[in-house]
Amino acid sequence: MTLPTLSWESSGLARPALAAKAKLLEAELARMRKAASSGYADERASVNLPLDKGHLALARRLARTRKASLVIVVGIGGSNLGTIAVQEAILGRAHNLSPGKRARILYADTVDADALAAIARSLKDALKKGERVAINLVSKSGATTESVANFEILLAVLRKSDKGWRDRVVVTTDEGSPLWDLAQQEGFAALPIPKKVGGRYSVFSPVGLFPLALLGIDVEALLEGAAQMRKICLDAPAERNPAIIRAAMLAHARDSGIAIADNFYFGSDLESVGKWYRQLMGESIGKEWDAAHERRVHMGITPTVSIGTTDLHSMAQLYFGGPRDKIHTLVTVEPDAALAVPRMAQYEALVPHIQGKRLSSIMDAVVQGVEAVLSQQGIPFCRIALAGKDEHTVGALLQLHMMEMMYLGALLGVNPFDQPNVEAYKVETKRVLARGK
Ligand code: PA5
Repeated sequence: MTLPTLSWESSGLARPALAAKAKLLEAELARMRKAASSGYADERASVNLPLDKGHLALARRLARTRKASLVIVVGIGGSNLGTIAVQEAILGRAHNLSPGKRARILYADTVDADALAAIARSLKDALKKGERVAINLVSKSGATTESVANFEILLAVLRKSDKGWRDRVVVTTDEGSPLWDLAQQEGFAALPIPKKVGGRYSVFSPVGLFPLALLGIDVEALLEGAAQMRKICLDAPAERNPAIIRAAMLAHARDSGIAIADNFYFGSDLESVGKWYRQLMGESIGKEWDAAHERRVHMGITPTVSIGTTDLHSMAQLYFGGPRDKIHTLVTVEPDAALAVPRMAQYEALVPHIQGKRLSSIMDAVVQGVEAVLSQQGIPFCRIALAGKDEHTVGALLQLHMMEMMYLGALLGVNPFDQPNVEAYKVETKRVLARGK
């Protein structure tokens, strides 16, 4: 099993500047090591999720008893993005089209009536056919308007046509939240999220483990990969620590006026990893106030997601020729399929030198081409290379990013664990709803 590797040799990122930034993180590294031996007491608590055998056993046991052919995850933001990222990376974006022996999975997040009506129809159809379904409501606070509204609509459908409806529902939330108490009253199974683990850091808690286990994903291997990366990002000295180097790159870029971080995935199934990362960076680094809440800083780096080679045909002109305000991370991956271009002499002249070549070699050529242009243009970039999209590798990648974000918050002087401005919109929405509009 190979862990993701980080390289930035030809990237234009000056080593002395990165080393100086990395050095600044030595105190934070010491705090992280302390948190790693403090269970779930510290804000950095999520760093200990990969070692939690209790959560793993709980999620797997419940997944065995709730086996279903249709799984519906109701949740938004940190409550579903990690699950989608892992599911699509491992099973593919088109999983529902040919699920094989695994369950199909649908996600209800926004309050889009058309989207939810389609999910409700799939639920009705499945129940009509006598299929077993599982609805997993995931909400840390237990009080997110969109999730609760969607859940109540789907629950009404379920109650109408399934006598054992209570057994089809699993709720994942903070122990003691109003939703936790309601689950007890209603007789729903409930899975806990440790209090100090925020939504965007919760993928390795029951938030992700339960639905992923329902799909037959090897959640133990996922956690093992995360645990291996955790160990590296805790044990390695700052100058050789991949999470710290990533944070140093991004902070150095930010100091130089580069405030857009583009993750360029050369593997379409990783798009949702990019969307998960977008939330992780957006909410962790985008802050009105500094960490001490003394200075208004309006800090932020805007995360974007690009897919290679698709977006080279829509965004490359901007990236290569436009404003020098971006740092790119090229994420490459070894595909499973060994497809090759057939040898047909009459086609050779159309695009020379591709006959008989594997698609993966053509992809490599594109990546090398992109790196060459970025280098020539002096645009900063690094590469994260994945040996595959198996559980172990995906677990390690997500863990790297979560630790990188904690270090980045420390470097930029913001609190990477709260999201006060997200809460503000939730409060305003509830106020509008209370006025009856
Ligand atoms: O990262 C966060 O905390 C937010 O994006 C939440 O995940 C999102 O708002 C959903 O909240 P909850 O899980 O409480 O329903």
